[in-house]
Amino acid sequence: MPCIFINTNRSVGTINPNIYGQFSEHLGRCIYQGLYVGEDSDIPNVNGMRVDVVNALKKIHIPVLRWPGGCFADTYHWRDGIGPQSQRKTIVNTNWGGVSEDNSFGTHEFMELARQLGCEAYFSGNVGSGTVQEFSDWVEYCNMGGVSPMASLRRENGREEPYNVKYWGIGNEAWGCGGNMRAEYYADLCRQYSTYLRNYSPEHKIFKIASGANVDDYHWTRTVLERAGHVIDAVSLHYYTLPHQDWQHKGSATDFTGEEYYTTLHKTLRMEELVENHSRIIKQFAGGRSIGLAVDEWGTWYDVEPGTNPGFLYQQNTMRDALVAAINLNIFNNHCDTVCMANIAQMVNVLQAMILTEGSRMVLTPTYHVFALYAAHQGAQQLESYAETSILNHDEQAVPTLHVSASCAADGKILVTVANLDSARAAEAKVMLGGVKASGVTGTVLTGPAAAHNTFAAPDTVTPQPLQATLTADGFTATLPACSVAAFTVTPQ
Ligand code: AHR
Repeated sequence: MPCIFINTNRSVGTINPNIYGQFSEHLGRCIYQGLYVGEDSDIPNVNGMRVDVVNALKKIHIPVLRWPGGCFADTYHWRDGIGPQSQRKTIVNTNWGGVSEDNSFGTHEFMELARQLGCEAYFSGNVGSGTVQEFSDWVEYCNMGGVSPMASLRRENGREEPYNVKYWGIGNEAWGCGGNMRAEYYADLCRQYSTYLRNYSPEHKIFKIASGANVDDYHWTRTVLERAGHVIDAVSLHYYTLPHQDWQHKGSATDFTGEEYYTTLHKTLRMEELVENHSRIIKQFAGGRSIGLAVDEWGTWYDVEPGTNPGFLYQQNTMRDALVAAINLNIFNNHCDTVCMANIAQMVNVLQAMILTEGSRMVLTPTYHVFALYAAHQGAQQLESYAETSILNHDEQAVPTLHVSASCAADGKILVTVANLDSARAAEAKVMLGGVKASGVTGTVLTGPAAAHNTFAAPDTVTPQPLQATLTADGFTATLPACSVAAFTVTPQ
């Protein structure tokens, strides 16, 4: 019987709620149709936001939402998206399918979405094709409470109070779609832009996130930290899981072999090495300042669903994705001493989405359910945990059977989240709680064949179910089904 040890006496810190952040880009049907349908739509909406989607997202307690991109951010000119909608400019979304973008969803609409979701806004500013003045003006427009040209413009557009947007990204993927820059050049630009992103109130200091590395580009992180570390609060990291590294043939979201299932999980596990290595560099070159790692794009990236626009990145979502989410979130929880934020890509209808929509219909994905199972980790104290398990397979398919993280909330309840990566065999697990005596335990599990997924015709194929857990003298035992993600809540005596 594999053992899981939870040491309630040791912790690396508090799990920043922002680790459960999301990302929404002007890409495919994420913003338009997925989140925003406009006030005149037949689809029930409040101020243009879909009621069904917003209500579902509220249940997973989204702490922070990144917008407007992604690659789109470095082509976005925020003034195009303010003022009367009928007078806004229509532009071409050159990154994603060359479709028309009418800018009907802009700063005020995004802040209305954030208000309805009850989350913080994280704006990704345009460094690649914008100007320092333009970016500086956006911060002033959003955050200036007194009298100034940008505050007056905001008021003319109907918003009296400042929005106090806290999180600002200084460009996106500056090494790629955000300008194809060298790390050295970007670091200098980052210093320059950061200088003019002002605080307009001592109670609402902004948090600046530098555009970070692609995967294992450690030179990038080191250069940005060495040259611009003194002007930022965090640096980002982007790492996507692709079953095959060939961008023309990444693999199907639903039609995959057993080998591809394990390769996908093996590649996901690499996140731990990346987080540890980038974090080490950050600590080494931060000069004593506390600088976080923001994994502001992560998730699976497959071939698009057959027959859909290749530029829209629409993909289905299976139990395999649930395991990818569980592994990544366990890793972020266990490294919450440096990971200050993470944003899964993306929230609706794009890549590893929480929700898929088709007209007025909506379906929750297995990934959504993992975020629900893990929600109580937000703001809790991480607890050291260790799974004593065997390794399945070899080389590029090697994975541990079990993957775990644990935390203790302010009310003393302990949440243990465990993924059973074995697609064929259940695991009888003995969970040992060192340092605490339990008076009760409840379990919930998400399970199914690796390719199981929810469709508009069968939306409840993969949904959480109660899972039996039995208290023992030193913890509890439970049977973790093959290919499953389980969450146990322990009440201490
Ligand atoms: O999430 C899709 C795209 O992936 C983003 O726009 C970009 O930042 C990344 O390459």
